[in-house]
Amino acid sequence: MSRRADSSETRPDPRQFRRSLQRWFRLRGRDLPWRRTRDPYAILVSEFMLQQTQVVTVLPYYQRWLKRFPDFAALARAKESEVLHAWQGLGYYARARNLHAAGKFVTENCGGEIPAHTAGIAQLPGVGRYTAGALASFAFDRPEPIVEANIARVLARLTNWQDTIDTTAGRAHLWRTAESLLPMTGARDHNSALMDLGAMICLPRTPHCGACPVRRFCRAVEPALLPRKKQRPATVCLRERHAFTRQRNHVLLEQSHLRWQGMWILPRLASTPRRRPLLELDFPFTHHRVTLAVFARPAPKIAHANQQWFSLRALDRLPVPSPHRRALVQLLPLPSGSRS
Ligand code: ADE
Repeated sequence: MSRRADSSETRPDPRQFRRSLQRWFRLRGRDLPWRRTRDPYAILVSEFMLQQTQVVTVLPYYQRWLKRFPDFAALARAKESEVLHAWQGLGYYARARNLHAAGKFVTENCGGEIPAHTAGIAQLPGVGRYTAGALASFAFDRPEPIVEANIARVLARLTNWQDTIDTTAGRAHLWRTAESLLPMTGARDHNSALMDLGAMICLPRTPHCGACPVRRFCRAVEPALLPRKKQRPATVCLRERHAFTRQRNHVLLEQSHLRWQGMWILPRLASTPRRRPLLELDFPFTHHRVTLAVFARPAPKIAHANQQWFSLRALDRLPVPSPHRRALVQLLPLPSGSRS
């Protein structure tokens, strides 16, 4: 017998399901700032920030970003270093670069307005199926399904999907299920409600099934065991060596062209010095655990082309990735307000 659930039996009746979900959402749904606007630009900013980042972390960044870059035109005019600086601390900086590119694209090719249809939205840099659907439904209330981590968990449990979800077949099942539940009008609230159900009730390890508004539609036998995912690659430990070089109130930094492209980091060292490091700190990076080891180095006679001296006062306005900023905060007398 197939371990896969039979979808004709396991998809709930959409109309009754939606009614129960909406009743709950009106009472318990989250009041989030990007739900108080229909501005496609603000919603796009929120969706880029929320990819792989939690709501509580995003909230202050979202508010600051909209003050600093209130619309596509303002974002398109900004320098890359300003954009990276505003993103500093959120990580996954490709999102910031893509958002910047999207700002330029909309300004140059769409008369400053995002297209109101999914195919047009999907043309923007960094916008995949999820983000296009999110924008189409949240900004324009178009009947487009969305599947992100919270919704995937809800749908896998609702349908008691026993196979892995991070496969072509698993993803296809989730998107088909999302589509089958979607209303023709009110997709904005429907998609928000599904997301909130995943974030507040249908939790990863301890689902609150007793409080679930759609429990009677759910086919999960052991919900806490779903969804299943492919085994993750093991975490790899890396050690990276960097130099700390200071002259009076200036420090030498290097513009990264690799992991943190365009941002300023402590200069990389090709070999391990014999002396002990001034400090070591750990940070995660995709499937890696990286140890950043920082060594005191004398000032070079001539700095490399990608290196530059910065006064300590200038550091606050410079885009510096969090681990390197943490190291600088520990090694220098920086004002305590310097964000990590
Ligand atoms: N995660 C991704 N998009 C989101 C949104 N619009 N609201 C809450 N969480 C989200």
